[in-house]
Amino acid sequence: MTITRPQQDHAPSPKVSSGRGAFNAWFFDTFDRYINFITKPSKRAAFADIAPGRILEIGPGTGANFAYVPADSKYLALEPNRAMHQRLARRAAQRGVDLELLPYPGESVPLESSSVDTVICSLVLCTVHDPAAVLREVKRVLRPGGTFRFVEHVAAHPASPRRWLQASISRPWSWIFEGCQLCRHTGAVVEGAGFGSVQIRKQRLRLSMFVPVNSSIHGIATK
Ligand SMILES: C[S@@+](CC[C@H](N)C(=O)[O-])C[C@H]1O[C@@H](n2cnc3c(N)ncnc32)[C@H](O)[C@@H]1O
Repeated sequence: MTITRPQQDHAPSPKVSSGRGAFNAWFFDTFDRYINFITKPSKRAAFADIAPGRILEIGPGTGANFAYVPADSKYLALEPNRAMHQRLARRAAQRGVDLELLPYPGESVPLESSSVDTVICSLVLCTVHDPAAVLREVKRVLRPGGTFRFVEHVAAHPASPRRWLQASISRPWSWIFEGCQLCRHTGAVVEGAGFGSVQIRKQRLRLSMFVPVNSSIHGIATK
């Protein structure tokens, strides 16, 4: 594993190992199997047939998506929460993943333009400070024809009980889960990011006890 240290022209991470960052690392590590189970149909669709190459994951957490990273790939992990790093590195070593850890936020990716074949993320655009800025960076670093594959929870239908629930608990939820926004319209942000093509599917997470995040989308955007 290599770690690329922050350089002066990149802002330091806004989220580094606060108490809540450590809680999030524990939470996503502990519930990893369950979260992967409820998101499996979406991940299988969005992360299908990723070709080996240079793969960037935005906010990989503790390594929930290693199963979808093909062997013989260079895996670049952009993870600003340092509390995730040890678990992420350990799992990468267990799976033989060639990991390069980039401790930066998605709004400021320390990679050259058109230098990555595929970008993936799951349950991250809900949490980043500025999703439009992250998508600008995703599009910049992707090579022409490269794909951005995502699985995200989103705002439920405005007239639904779930939307009422999302709005009611959004503040404490955001406080606990490092700024996670339950009522984001992430699909619209991806559609507005200027990709050559965008496919988005809505999906209710199966058998999920995390009711506020059951409204989800997954998709593939091609540069
Ligand atoms: C809800 S967790 C999801 C983790 C993992 N992707 C998964 O599916 O289990 C959100 C992740 O996004 C990361 N994150 C938060 N803000 C970020 C930012 N501005 N740029 C990149 N990642 C960020 C967090 O550190 C965390 O790892």
